[in-house]
Amino acid sequence: MGKVRVLSVVGARPNFMKMAPILRQLSRYPEFASYLVHTGQHYDDAMSRVFFRDLGMQDADFNLNVGSASHAVQTAEIMKRFEETCVEVNPDMVIVAGDVNSTLACSLTAVKLDIPVAHIESGLRSFDRSMPEEINRIVTDSVSDLLFTTEESGNLNLRREGVAANKIHFVGNTMIDSLVHCYRLLEEIPMNGALPELNDRPYFLATIHRPSNVDDPAQLSQVLDILDSASRLAPLFFVTHPRTRERLKQVKNNEKLKEISGNIQNIQPGNIYLLPPLPYIDFLRLMSKSKAVLTDSGGIQEESTFLNVPCLTLRDNTERPITIELGSNEIVGLDCQKILSSLHRIMNNHWKDPVIPPLWDGCAAERVATVLKKTFDCF
Ligand code: UD1
Repeated sequence: MGKVRVLSVVGARPNFMKMAPILRQLSRYPEFASYLVHTGQHYDDAMSRVFFRDLGMQDADFNLNVGSASHAVQTAEIMKRFEETCVEVNPDMVIVAGDVNSTLACSLTAVKLDIPVAHIESGLRSFDRSMPEEINRIVTDSVSDLLFTTEESGNLNLRREGVAANKIHFVGNTMIDSLVHCYRLLEEIPMNGALPELNDRPYFLATIHRPSNVDDPAQLSQVLDILDSASRLAPLFFVTHPRTRERLKQVKNNEKLKEISGNIQNIQPGNIYLLPPLPYIDFLRLMSKSKAVLTDSGGIQEESTFLNVPCLTLRDNTERPITIELGSNEIVGLDCQKILSSLHRIMNNHWKDPVIPPLWDGCAAERVATVLKKTFDCF
């Protein structure tokens, strides 16, 4: 029997951490011929290339270079170009990860060509269909053949939606595999010049990029007021996604933001310090040492739980409830009073003691590879 041809897809920043450990596993087994596609949904070096470097990923075999566009145009363009790649590679399986437009586009393309789809990080549901990611999750799961879940809520959601039990594989969290893999490098790799030297002083870290928080100037202005209030308790570093950076130009109260580059000596409370998108290892370093994270990202809710860093999620829901049940995360919306009272508790070290969720042990990708081998009967 010939090799099993596996075509894995990455496109946007959160895909890289989820896929890197799987690519490493696939390369360990001669039974697999592994190919990587980068859709180009994210294309800036800071949003893409630096992650390949930090995660030790192979270059993509195929670059689709789709770039940014409306959801419909971006999705359609990825589908058109990915179809050609599928026809060329003729894979036995396509692997997609997470909930971005590339995930949706490539899973739909594959299933239309009768190619089985494996979905990493299946079953998560925010039950908020105004989030583009929620639509991407529902559609991707509905056309997938192997559904790899990270937490028990994923298993329950899929079963409730009628997915056959033998398609669901609770393997744990491949993004945490990447964290475990890179964590030891935090001490070995020197601090990037763009990061401040903090000398163990307490600080907060913020990342806000969801359309619901940044696209409406009034909403973004409210977010800035919250960050400003928070920064009075401890200096705050605001790591900005290009979307956020662009939108910040349009809000009135942006004079509170301070650009930093290079080491600055005098980090003071009462200030919000703007940082560009950071490479994976630098971001991990900054997060692991922060007193609290304020975020609307999905992945950061999980990473902070693993790192035992208090996390306040500036949204009204989460698709990752295990980070609330066992982890360090709390949903706070844009309720400034709630946020400040949480930060006071955190500053006084009165926060929950998180437990690392089941199977977030650095070996999730190994379990994925085992399922793939069984599926293709190549022991
Ligand atoms: C996407 C994902 C989101 C994920 C986020 C992580 C979807 C629907 N959303 O959102 O789930 O949390 O990635 O970052 O897939 N841009 C650049 N450089 C880049 C990429 C984007 O400047 O390399 C700018 C462009 O102006 C673009 C905007 O960011 O229009 C939004 O990019 P897009 O990929 O559409 O969505 P994200 O907001 O990044």
